[in-house]
Amino acid sequence: MMEGFSSVLPERFLDLKKELVNNGEAQERLTQAWNEILANLETMTKEAIETGPEIIPQIDFSEIDSLSSEKLADIKRRGGVVIRNVVDDAEALRWTDSLREYVKVNPVDGLPLDNKQFFMLYWTQSQVRARSHPNVLKVSTWLNTLYGAPDGNIPEGVHLDQPLSYADRFRIRHAGGRWNDHKPHIDGGSIERWEDDEFRNCFAEILQGDWRKHNPYNITNRLNAKSSLYGRPNQSSVFRTFQGWLALSETGPGEGTLKLFPDVLLSNAYLILRPFFRPVEQPVSSDPLDPQNWKFDISTTEFPGIYTGEGGGFYGPRLSSATHPHMRIDEVMTSIPKVWPGDMVFWHCDVVHSVEPEHVGKNDSAAIYIPAVPSTPANREYLERQRQAFLRGVPPPDFPQVKDESEGEKPHQGNGVVSDISGDGRRAMGFEVSVGA
Ligand SMILES: [Fe+2]
Repeated sequence: MMEGFSSVLPERFLDLKKELVNNGEAQERLTQAWNEILANLETMTKEAIETGPEIIPQIDFSEIDSLSSEKLADIKRRGGVVIRNVVDDAEALRWTDSLREYVKVNPVDGLPLDNKQFFMLYWTQSQVRARSHPNVLKVSTWLNTLYGAPDGNIPEGVHLDQPLSYADRFRIRHAGGRWNDHKPHIDGGSIERWEDDEFRNCFAEILQGDWRKHNPYNITNRLNAKSSLYGRPNQSSVFRTFQGWLALSETGPGEGTLKLFPDVLLSNAYLILRPFFRPVEQPVSSDPLDPQNWKFDISTTEFPGIYTGEGGGFYGPRLSSATHPHMRIDEVMTSIPKVWPGDMVFWHCDVVHSVEPEHVGKNDSAAIYIPAVPSTPANREYLERQRQAFLRGVPPPDFPQVKDESEGEKPHQGNGVVSDISGDGRRAMGFEVSVGA
C-alpha cells in the first residue's frame, strides 16, 4: 500500500454492503456466482499466462469495418485491442520529431524533473494533428459503437458515431529508466463503483449473481455514473469508452509498454464481488486460491483495492496479488504485442492496466494519449470548456491548471492552431455544432 493511504474505510460502508445483500437468498446467489467466477478465472488465468501477448487481439485499420463476429466478440471480451497502421509511419515519425524538437526548444513541464519524459503538454502541433486525423477519429467511432443499449435504445443526446477529441498528454520514455507509478489499476471511479447508484447499476447483474449477463458495453448507466463523488484530483471527468494511445515509436514487450488484464467480463465480475468474500480462518486446503478457503462475509468495511487517501477521497481500484489473489495479477498482466509508429492501442474503461516498470530496450518509447470519447451531453459540456482552454493555450479543465496564459503553452514555439484541425476534427474539437448539441 502506498504511504498516506489506508484500506480502513468508514463505517457507512458496512451498511452499503448489507443493503446490497439484504437476505439469505441474495447471499446464496452471490456465493454461487463467486464460485463460478473463481472456476472461470482459474481457466482464464492459465490460458493468459500460457499465451502471452498474443492473447491481446490485433487488427489492421483497413479491417475495422469487416471484422468477423468472432473477432469482435474476442475484442469485447478481452477489453483491449491493438490496431495497426491507423496513421502512416512517415507521418507518425514526423509527429515524433516535432515533439522532440518542441521539448528541446521550449521550457516545458515534465516528469521526472531532471530527465523529462512525461510531458504536461496538450496543444503541440503533433497532438492537435494526431487527434484530428481522420483515421484516428474513425477508430474512435468504431470503438464507441462497440457500446450499445438494451433493445438498441441509445439514450437521447448520445451519438456514438460522433467522436469527440479529448486532449491529454504524451510521453517519450527513455530506455533504462524505472517507472513505478503505474501498477495495476482501473481509472474512472473508485468506491463509486459500489457507492453511486448509477455507477453500481453498470454492474447490476453481477450484484444479482447473474454475472454472465453483465455487459461492460451497455452505455445506459455509464452516462450518469458519478465516477468522482469526493473531488479526487487528476480524474478524467469525461466518459471515455476506451483509453488509448497512438504509438510514435517501435515498442515491444519489455520496453516499458502497457500491460492489460485480458478479460474485462471476468475482472469486473470478480472485482465487484470481492468485497463480499474473504479467506476462512481455518483453511481447508493448502491452496490459498481454493474456493473452499473463501467465504461470504460482510462484517467489515473493507473493499479490497480501495483506499482512503489525501483530501478525504477514495483511491483505486488498485489490484495486487494480496487484494485480488484469484486474478494472479503478477503473472497475468500481459504486455501488449509489439507496436510500430502509427499503430494504436486501446483498452476498455474498466480494464485493469499497468505500465511495465522497466524499459530494457534501446530506444525511446513514445506515444500520444488519445482515448475514444463519444458525444454525450456531459462530454459536450466538457468539450466546450476544453475548446476554450485550447484557444487560450492553457491545460484542459481535467488537468492541473496554471496561473494564467503566460504559464501555459502559448509562449512556446510549435503549438497547434485551429487550422491544424482537419474537417471532422473540427466537430470533434467543438468548433462546429454537432447534431445533438
Ligand atoms: Fe491508468
